[in-house]
Amino acid sequence: MSFLAAFFYDHFMTTVERSCLREWRHELLEQVSGEVLEIGAGTGANLEFYPETVTRLVLAEPDQHMRQFLQKNTRHSKLKDIHIANETAEDLDADDESFDFVVTALVCCSFADLEAALLEIRRVLKPGGSLLFMEHVAADDGTGRRYWQNLVNPIWRRVMGNCHLNREIEGAMISAGFNIRQIKRESMRTIIAPLLPTIRGCALKI
Ligand SMILES: C[S@@+](CC[C@H](N)C(=O)[O-])C[C@H]1O[C@@H](n2cnc3c(N)ncnc32)[C@H](O)[C@@H]1O
Repeated sequence: MSFLAAFFYDHFMTTVERSCLREWRHELLEQVSGEVLEIGAGTGANLEFYPETVTRLVLAEPDQHMRQFLQKNTRHSKLKDIHIANETAEDLDADDESFDFVVTALVCCSFADLEAALLEIRRVLKPGGSLLFMEHVAADDGTGRRYWQNLVNPIWRRVMGNCHLNREIEGAMISAGFNIRQIKRESMRTIIAPLLPTIRGCALKI
C-alpha cells in the first residue's frame, strides 16, 4: 500500500465506521481476554475496543505505511503490553498454541492464501482458543449481487491490494478446522454494493 493510501485509509472509512463498524467492533471485542493476536491490524481501528482483560496484544501488520499509523495509535491505548509485528497471516512468527484469541477484521479478503492463513491461525491458537472475525464476504450463490462480485473481482483485486469481493470465508474456516460458534450476517451500511455482505462472530479451534 502506498503512503497516501495508508494516510487516507481512516478518512475513507469514517462514514462506514460510524454507521456500523464501530458498533460491531465493540460487540465483537468485549469478549476477548488473555493473550491476543490481531492479524492485519491496519491503522488500529480495533485498538480502542480491546478491554483491559487483554494481558498481551500482538498486532501483526505487514504494510510499512499502515504500521507507521498503527504505531502512533497504540500510544493512546490503555493496554500496557502491545507489540507490533511485521508479519503476514500465512507465515506467523508465533509459537504453536500461544494465543487465547486471534482477531481478524476486514482482512481475510486480502490474504494471498486464505487456506494457509487459516491453518496458521489455527496453529497459534491454544487448545479451546477462538478466532473472532468481522469480514466482508461473497453474496449467496445465484444472486445478482454475486454475479456482479464475480464480474468485478479480477479488476477490483488488482486495484485494491488483493481484496477479493467474492470469498467464501465461513466455508474456508470450517475446512481449516474451526467450529463456528456464533455468526451474524448483516449488510454493511453506507458502502458500495459489492462490499455489503458481511459475517462476524466466533470460530472455535477444534
Ligand atoms: C482493509 S485493511 C483492514 C485493517 C483493519 N483490520 C481494520 O479493521 O480497519 C486490511 C489490512 O490487512 C493487511 N494485510 C493484507 N494482507 C495481509 C496478510 N497476508 N497478512 C496480514 N495482514 C495482511 C493490509 O496491510 C491492511 O492493513
